Amino acid sequence: MVRIGVIAVSDRASAGQYEDRGTPALVSYLARTVTTEHECVCRLIPDEEDLISSTIIELVEAEGCCLVLTTGGTGPAPRDVTPEATEAVCDRIIPGFGELMRRISHAIIPTAILSRQLAGTRGASLIINLPGNPKAIAECLDAVLPAVPDCIDLIGGPRIDVIESLQAWRPPPS
Ligand code: MTE
Repeated sequence: MVRIGVIAVSDRASAGQYEDRGTPALVSYLARTVTTEHECVCRLIPDEEDLISSTIIELVEAEGCCLVLTTGGTGPAPRDVTPEATEAVCDRIIPGFGELMRRISHAIIPTAILSRQLAGTRGASLIINLPGNPKAIAECLDAVLPAVPDCIDLIGGPRIDVIESLQAWRPPPS
């Protein structure tokens, strides 16, 4: 079965000071849109760069996740370090993900340009940063999920299918 990592990054949610709304938002978004049978491997951690990096590595290497989605910690505040932690463990960055997510988000909220979210690959896994706001999760994934199945094919991961309304594109079989 395909495994998808979900990492909620928040000092306050991980300390129990408020409820983690990112994880349920992400898990239910994936249940609605990813038609391939999958299970989510979830982690809730504070905004610590080394811990974010090691959690991504754990989900990719030990848990076998072909896709890892982070939520939170992408802004410019001093404790926001998710993009740095992600970049440190990626072999390659794919700038189009961040570019597109900021572009579509800017039509919704002017502060979208504050998100430094990025995406990259580690071996045959794709890692994508999302902002912390649960509404932003769906807004950003609606934009980039159509490119995810082909991306995971190209890096050598398992086949993933998504609902038709997202109009994911794949090259026709030759
Ligand atoms: N993107 C979308 N689509 N929708 C949003 O509401 N919020 C923005 C931005 N991107 C937002 C968004 C705001 S207010 C901030 S501060 C940044 O994401 C960073 O959020 P983070 O630090 O929780 O990751």
